Amino acid sequence: MKVKILQEFISRFGRDPLIVKSPGRINIIGEHTDYNNGFVLPAAIDKAAYIAMSLRDDNEIHLVALDLNESISTRVEDLKPTTDLSWTNYILGSAAQFQKNGLALSGFNAVLVSDVPIGAGLSSSAAIECATVFALNELLGANLSRLTMVGMAQKAEHEYAGVMCGIMDQFASMMGKKDHVIRLDCQSLEYQYVPLKLEGYKIVLFNTNVKHSLASSEYNTRRNECIQAVDWVRQTEPAVESLRDVTELMLDQYVKPKSELIDRRSRFVVQEIERLLIGCLDLSEGNIQALGKKMFATHEGLSKMYEVSCKELDWLVDFVKDNPNVMGARMMGGGFGGCTINLVKEDAIEALIESIEPAYEQAMHLTLTFYIASIENGTEVVG
Ligand code: GLA
Repeated sequence: MKVKILQEFISRFGRDPLIVKSPGRINIIGEHTDYNNGFVLPAAIDKAAYIAMSLRDDNEIHLVALDLNESISTRVEDLKPTTDLSWTNYILGSAAQFQKNGLALSGFNAVLVSDVPIGAGLSSSAAIECATVFALNELLGANLSRLTMVGMAQKAEHEYAGVMCGIMDQFASMMGKKDHVIRLDCQSLEYQYVPLKLEGYKIVLFNTNVKHSLASSEYNTRRNECIQAVDWVRQTEPAVESLRDVTELMLDQYVKPKSELIDRRSRFVVQEIERLLIGCLDLSEGNIQALGKKMFATHEGLSKMYEVSCKELDWLVDFVKDNPNVMGARMMGGGFGGCTINLVKEDAIEALIESIEPAYEQAMHLTLTFYIASIENGTEVVG
């Protein structure tokens, strides 16, 4: 990957670039909790975006996506979101954050390659954003902290991709640590690295290979539904700022009588925040069975209460539910397609794949792909 991007950069732009690698992520538990000021438990994985970059002496920006065989050119003063090539938004949106923060941005050349599958719920976009911000920070000598860069990468997604995402994906990509998950409090941004000791189990990702078009519009709708619930609670409980501060009793009193739908949405989030906290204890005690049970419960909530699953994801979770070698499984990420995350006994992985692949193909008329995720470091310079 590194060699390929280096050669391509030199042949196109005639000079040596800086190369930055930024990974995709998984999330063990804690879904749709980040934008509600709750907790998440993500980790960076061994799939990553690589960006090769050098500054120019003029104001031109030249971008190439090697895998997609696409390229565009623009100028620093013309930075704006585009509607056709989504990958350019992640790079341009990240560059725009430098201008917005009053940091002088010059023209630059960039070549991108990535093996984070697109639309798989592994944060391929956050990986590109973090790689871009990190590379520009190095080249411009801006001296930004990693935390500041996480915020800039998140804003790029809001402002250029139009998805009002929480902070989990960019945080995990930038801050990941080998063999550890990050227990992140999305309210205070305090975090701890928790060793991921899976005691003979591995993280297997099954990719539905679908991404339903609802994904980004419904994501923003869910966010607004959560805000609505908080608004109703606040009318009586003014100290409440987010669903993090809300209890199920408050939902019974102030939300349920007004809207069954908003009650279901917000109740999922309140329960999920609690579920994660106990799940963290399970993990630290090495109780994979208890953690796995919570993952199944999370899936049930995401599917029935939060309604961000789809028939392909539900099928995959149902298939493994009664398999004694699968401790836990659930859809992962924003939803409406992408991957399920499964905790599978190491010596049973092969047999599971052999049975689930053809069954999925027959039931859904789609190809199933799988990845065994290993946990890696976050954004770093690799060349
Ligand atoms: C997407 C968003 C994240 C998070 C998850 C759901 O991945 O980018 O911020 O909200 O969905 O947990």
